[in-house]
Amino acid sequence: MILSSTQTIPEHSAVPRHLAIIMDGNGRWATRRLLPRTAGHMRGVQSVRRVVEGCGKAGVKYLTLFAFSSENWRRPSDEVSLLMRLFVQTLEKEVHKLEKQGVRLRVVGDLSRFEPKLQQLIKDAEEKTAHNDTLHLTIAANYGGRWDILNATRQLLLAQPELAQHPEKITEADFSEYLSMAFAPEPDLFIRTGGEQRISNFLIWQLAYTELYFTDVYWPDFGAKHLQTAFEWYQNRERRFGRTSAQL
Ligand code: FPP
Repeated sequence: MILSSTQTIPEHSAVPRHLAIIMDGNGRWATRRLLPRTAGHMRGVQSVRRVVEGCGKAGVKYLTLFAFSSENWRRPSDEVSLLMRLFVQTLEKEVHKLEKQGVRLRVVGDLSRFEPKLQQLIKDAEEKTAHNDTLHLTIAANYGGRWDILNATRQLLLAQPELAQHPEKITEADFSEYLSMAFAPEPDLFIRTGGEQRISNFLIWQLAYTELYFTDVYWPDFGAKHLQTAFEWYQNRERRFGRTSAQL
């Protein structure tokens, strides 16, 4: 069972055990260069590679990337199709490498809206890498924090219908077991690139005590050096989890 930051004081170390990232700024990176927004997403895949490698080297155990939110369907249809094609191509091309690097890949979110081919590729990739344990890479796709919480509530009540008559018996631990990130500790560090300072319906339950780091760097420019700067910032944070400085 994964310990909750509101119920216990989690262990934490110099390097975040779990890093969650909102990869923002692809569109603006491209527009600045008079390129179509989709060119920014294509370059963004290279940053994903650099960050996966950097996290592996630094000893991060869980890396969770927000690739497509429940709200991103509202984008122009050619951009949505390009993103879907990029997911397919990246999965086809990279899974073998991930497998060799010891990376376990998972995709979380409501996958039912994706084409059957993409759903199958995801399933295959998850199975092929299921034995790995060096780095747990999770891609959040058609993911929304509110969807996750509602989904967990429904799953909990389906599994234990008697709880509907005794809601006072529901604990955080019972509930969080049904969240899509139940396999991972809560993120220690959250990074959002691209200058906005929002959570944007990402892991809203799990970010309760996460350190939040925002940078103006656009995602396609984000690399090992920026990751290192974020880790140094994290090392200087005083993680109190509700206690006073004197108690640490
Ligand atoms: C946000 O930038 C980025 C996205 C919605 C897509 C992220 C996708 C990738 C980095 C590529 C594919 C990833 C994988 C894991 C294969 P934005 O378009 O909102 O940028 P803007 O704010 O400048 O418009």
